[in-house]
Amino acid sequence: MGKLVIEGNRKLSGHIRVHGAKNAILPILAGSLLNSGKSILYDCPCITDVDVSAKILNGLGVKTKREGETFLVDSSSMNDFEIADDLMREMRSSIVFLGAIIAKKQKARLSTPGGCELGPRPIDLHLKSLKQMGVSINEEHGFINCSAKDLHGAKIYLDFPSVGATENIMLAAVLAKGETVIANAAKEPEIVDLQDFLNAMGAQVSGAGNNVICIRGVKKLHDVDYRIMPDRIVAATYLAAACITQSELEVTNVNPSHIESITSLLSDMGSELVIKDQSILHRPTGNITSIGTVRTMPYPGFPTDAQSPFMAVATLANGSSVFVENIFESRFKQVGELRRMGANIMVDGSVAVVRGVPKLMGANVSAMDLRGGAALILAALAADGVSEIAHIHYIDRGYESIEKSFSSLGAKIKRVEE
Ligand code: EPZ
Repeated sequence: MGKLVIEGNRKLSGHIRVHGAKNAILPILAGSLLNSGKSILYDCPCITDVDVSAKILNGLGVKTKREGETFLVDSSSMNDFEIADDLMREMRSSIVFLGAIIAKKQKARLSTPGGCELGPRPIDLHLKSLKQMGVSINEEHGFINCSAKDLHGAKIYLDFPSVGATENIMLAAVLAKGETVIANAAKEPEIVDLQDFLNAMGAQVSGAGNNVICIRGVKKLHDVDYRIMPDRIVAATYLAAACITQSELEVTNVNPSHIESITSLLSDMGSELVIKDQSILHRPTGNITSIGTVRTMPYPGFPTDAQSPFMAVATLANGSSVFVENIFESRFKQVGELRRMGANIMVDGSVAVVRGVPKLMGANVSAMDLRGGAALILAALAADGVSEIAHIHYIDRGYESIEKSFSSLGAKIKRVEE
């Protein structure tokens, strides 16, 4: 269990390249099961969620190999349909492997993914949709046993545009008989990346990025090589870091169209942005204007994953900001830790009111989830004095060598193994 030690109140400078997207590579790794052959994935982030996914693939008899930022999969040797309980518990988003395992093996067995730090994380939409495709599902003793002798297309309406459920249906439908239509589908850019990856291996998927996605089942898929899209939440996190430290900083390998809600908010907060095709330059203007009200919404609304980093920025804004968390039940875990650093935040249910303070103070705090941990780093970078952030394994799930990234921008930050 490691911790980060950060000496705050320092400007950042320079430029940082954004790595491949965690929330794109995970469903794409599940999709790499489908071609019973080779997948070469470029710009695959070096994060622990990918390490866990590799263990899941290996447990299914699939060969994997990492060569720097390139990740190789050979699913020709797949010989199992079960995900081990400890791996499901380590990463609840392993549920996204379910549809692909069923598509390949006509059955699947995995433990019911427990809740996580963000709340209960139900999978009812996943299971209801798979049942419509002919999957019989038996849940007992904490395990989900699925079988599908005749996996077929279906017209599926999602009660909520769930990212994971949309991805699971796409992955199950690619080799199913007939056509599947997903109405009220999630529209996140990671869904488009999954569609492009699947089509690059010979699938017939269309509509991703809109709220109706069509998948025509095919018989076979072929080898593929594919470059993962940049991580829009990592880009948002670095831009938030630039704002909270009032630094001039360029973020490269970013698709600005993926983070329009973020750049719009940063402009409202007083930052100047020079937006080019694949880069964004942040220029401070000497103060941070309070946010007004930010409501987290499905894409293209303000992303829930950027809520805690921007809450950290709001703690130093002139005036009060209101955050309304509409996606997850408990995504304010960072509030108590930010208060330890002198932030003035009141929470009532899904609403957090942040009153700006002149400065934050370094303190010993603990990460309690991935993006909340990132928020604590941002606060520590701006705070007066030294902060220690424990439980940084949460942060390593989604940020590549975060201390090296910020050190390269001039931060005084080091990782200490406990
Ligand atoms: C994905 O989670 C992302 N994870 C999350 O990122 C992200 O916050 C979330 O989408 C929303 O954008 C990955 O892609 C690996 P959902 P997912 O299904 O698929 C409810 C991060 O920090 N729901 O869209 O789990 C659910 O409880 C992570 O990178 C049901 O009720 O999100 C939640 O309230 C955190 N029943 C809401 O929908 C279901 O069957 C959104 O969940 C499924 C979901």
